[in-house]
Amino acid sequence: MKSQEPSLPVSSVFILLYTFMFVFCNISKLPTNNDFVVKYSNTFLDSVPKNLPPKTTMLDLSENNIALLLSSDFTSLTKLKLLNLSYNHIREFDASVFRFNAELEHLDLSHNNLWNITCSSLQYVKGLRYLDLSSNKFENILHCKEFSHFLHLQYLGVSTTRVQRSSLKEIAQLGTFHVIFLGLQNLSSYEPGSLEVLNTNKLHIAFPVSLEDPFILYDAMNTSRTLELSQIKCEKACHNLIEPLSKISKNSKVSTLIISNITMSWKYLHQMINAVLYSSVEYLNIYHLTQIGEFPYFIQFNSSNTSLKALSIQHAISKVFYHTGNPHPLQTYSDLMIENLTLVDIGMIHFICPSKPSVFHCLNLTRNKLTDTLFQNCNTLPHLETLILGSNRLEKLSLVSTMTGSMKSLRYLDVNNNKLQYENEEDCHWSETLLKLDLSANQLSSAVFGCLPINVRILDLHNNQIYNIHKNIVALKSLEELNLASNWLTDLPDCSHFKSLAVLKVEVNLLHSPSFHSLQSCQNVRTISAGNNPFHCDCELRNFINWRKRRAGDILGWPESYICQYPEHLTGTALKDIHLSEVSCNIAVLFGIVLGTIAAFILCILFLCLYFDLPWYIKMTWNWTQTKRRIRNTNPKDLHQNLTYHAFISYSQHDASWVKNCLIPNLKKGDGSPQICQHERDFVPGRSIIENIINCIEKSYKSIFVLSPNFIQSEWFHYELYFAHHRLFTKNSDSLILILLKTIPQYLIPSKYYKLKALMAKRTYLEWPKEKSKHRLFWANLRQSINVQLPEHKMNLEKVFNISQGRDCEPDTVNLN
Ligand SMILES: *[C@@H]1O[C@H](CO)[C@@H](O)[C@H](O)[C@H]1NC(C)=O
Ligand SMILES: *[C@@H]1O[C@H](CO)[C@@H](O)[C@H](O)[C@H]1NC(C)=O
Repeated sequence: MKSQEPSLPVSSVFILLYTFMFVFCNISKLPTNNDFVVKYSNTFLDSVPKNLPPKTTMLDLSENNIALLLSSDFTSLTKLKLLNLSYNHIREFDASVFRFNAELEHLDLSHNNLWNITCSSLQYVKGLRYLDLSSNKFENILHCKEFSHFLHLQYLGVSTTRVQRSSLKEIAQLGTFHVIFLGLQNLSSYEPGSLEVLNTNKLHIAFPVSLEDPFILYDAMNTSRTLELSQIKCEKACHNLIEPLSKISKNSKVSTLIISNITMSWKYLHQMINAVLYSSVEYLNIYHLTQIGEFPYFIQFNSSNTSLKALSIQHAISKVFYHTGNPHPLQTYSDLMIENLTLVDIGMIHFICPSKPSVFHCLNLTRNKLTDTLFQNCNTLPHLETLILGSNRLEKLSLVSTMTGSMKSLRYLDVNNNKLQYENEEDCHWSETLLKLDLSANQLSSAVFGCLPINVRILDLHNNQIYNIHKNIVALKSLEELNLASNWLTDLPDCSHFKSLAVLKVEVNLLHSPSFHSLQSCQNVRTISAGNNPFHCDCELRNFINWRKRRAGDILGWPESYICQYPEHLTGTALKDIHLSEVSCNIAVLFGIVLGTIAAFILCILFLCLYFDLPWYIKMTWNWTQTKRRIRNTNPKDLHQNLTYHAFISYSQHDASWVKNCLIPNLKKGDGSPQICQHERDFVPGRSIIENIINCIEKSYKSIFVLSPNFIQSEWFHYELYFAHHRLFTKNSDSLILILLKTIPQYLIPSKYYKLKALMAKRTYLEWPKEKSKHRLFWANLRQSINVQLPEHKMNLEKVFNISQGRDCEPDTVNLN
């Protein structure tokens, strides 16, 4: 025992935590209406929690350990409409516990230990519509005169040991009930004729453990149209049930008889069914049946003119549908002459073809163990319209189809949740009357489209393994509704196969971006739902987005279920927020735009070149920047110490006026006056021209030659020789500036002038621009290139020229001859 000791606190801590979690987590608000719901069901509470939110309208405290209700427990909950206290241990409650709960409509106190309540406690909740006091220990709750206040009561559940006519009469005066439930498990006395006084649509009686007095059943048959008898145990004998049942006449009141939670043998079950075949009962529902006793047992029902329309047996625990003899006991059911037969969840492994043409309209054999052998070659179901075989063990679709082949009226077949498969080439013979077919939750592949009933209007194929619409598809001209949700489709189906399609469901597939072709074909489908697919939000998806905008019909779930999955940076983004521009997606448009831009650019350049001589400006600007850079980089110390001039200008006499009127004034325009050596003016008399030239060149930072045909003819020869001998210009032709004043035709340059030819070939000259607009830049450039800080030394120069700046800078006409 020692080893268990520590587990105790641990488990109680766990329970505390658990309770705590529930107390704080189970407060939730229903989104659909204005109710504020608080749930504490099954949370180990032993008293009503304090501090419940005053706005609570629905409070569920069921399945706890509450034993006592205090007067203060619900005082703050003035808005409370529903209170569920069932399955607790409540023994008693204070008379004023519901004093402040006048709004209460539903009160469930069933399954407690109440043995006595103060009748006055009921006066506060007169508005009750639903009151369940059943499964308690009351002896006779119905004596309270306060019951007569419940004018709105529709559901009343009480358990009692004594039933007296007088007390039921009081209740009957309240009007017609929907349901009255009487828990009579511990019935000790029943006054005959009591039940008949009740006014209720449905009477539900939990059966006395030992029914000695059959009067109660006779009375129950004449009380309401719907009668439910539950908790019946006939372990040995069942006469007290069967006998009164067999006496239900055509004139009794009950048309729907429900038998629930019963334990009985096959024999009594069959006797019970037999008993009601010719009575007022039209619907017999038996559920939660535990079968005991021997089997096989065979009884032939004589049901040819039965009043029974429908028999339903649901949820039976038994091993008895196994049989090898003949006739098979199930023959009794398949030969029943009733419209509807429901045998759900009763462990059946086979069902027999009726031995003669049956009147079945609807057969529901859901949740059994039926296999493909069902109804093969069965021609006796000519009226069957609805056949429901969901959740069985059917495997071959082709066999299911041949099964329907002989059912001439079949309109609806439901075979969902089986293991159906279909292989190509298998023969299918569907009933031509079949309009609605549910094949969902099977193992069908795309091949299924080769095996479908041609007139089907509503087809459910959701939750299968279909990845496309098979090309061998049977043309389904009448198909109006197609459900392909939860499959493996990567594209929308081609709707052109289905001319009448109005509703298409393809949610939860593998659609990335539906193709243009399929989208076009589905344009006229009225309603499409395609949400919850892994959409790829790239250019391909533009088809879908545009298509959605154009179409007239509904897209179900838009926009909330249409979310991008790829690319990663868009994962989780709604499709409606995605903008895929025409330009980024359409190659042709993109190409056009790029080409257009390039063309416009080229045109622009051409225009600039033609009209504004752009290359010239570029060249000049380039020169300018180069010169600037050079100046910046020149260390004044590197300059020749005996530099005297900024520039030496050499020109032909014919161009003298341009030099004097244009060149020189413009060179001097800048800051500081550049010192200029002109060979006319500054040549020292007595020296040879060559000597003078050399002197000038060497004392000048730059040498400017004004080239023109005249200059070539009359002056250049001085220099050609000089250049040939001085490497100065060869090494560093920077100090040389050639201004081309007039075009010089090649033939004018004598072949002996190698240096000139070389210089001209290199195009290192500056051309004098004809357009006035270019002059400013030209001059600026020139000024820049001679701009240098000359070494400090005395300059002995005079200004000789009269400078006339205003004059027009057209070069003199040069006579080339
Ligand atoms: C109260 O709770 C019990 C158990 O959870 C449930 O079966 C019953 O239907 C509830 N009653 C009402 C009126 O909701
Ligand atoms: C039989 O079942 C069908 C389908 O569930 C239903 O429409 C029809 O009303 C039922 N007939 C009777 C007599 O209950």
